Amino acid sequence: MTVDRPRLPATHGLQRGPEVNITVDGRPASAYLGESVAAALMADGDLSMRTTSGGERRGLFCGMGVCFDCLVIVDGVPGTRACVTWVREGMDIARQDGPGHRRAE
Ligand code: FES
Repeated sequence: MTVDRPRLPATHGLQRGPEVNITVDGRPASAYLGESVAAALMADGDLSMRTTSGGERRGLFCGMGVCFDCLVIVDGVPGTRACVTWVREGMDIARQDGPGHRRAE
């Protein structure tokens, strides 16, 4: 099932890249080339990207690869920073629980 989610219109001379198919937490979704994984996850509707080993939710904080609050699993690789990783066709993205487990679906 593809999630139908609202998107802001391209304005101010900016244009989106081509649409790509991705998987988010096991569900088919779409994103646009040029978007970060963090942007794709926020567009998916859940601002949380990982939980600490104590269960606290974390999401985008610095947005520039410094704080490591946005760690997710990309194509099976845990600990990938969502804010500095760009989506691509066929990418499998999963929110991360603790040190590297896929979030329970
Ligand atoms: S939000 Fe800080 S490293 Fe990604």
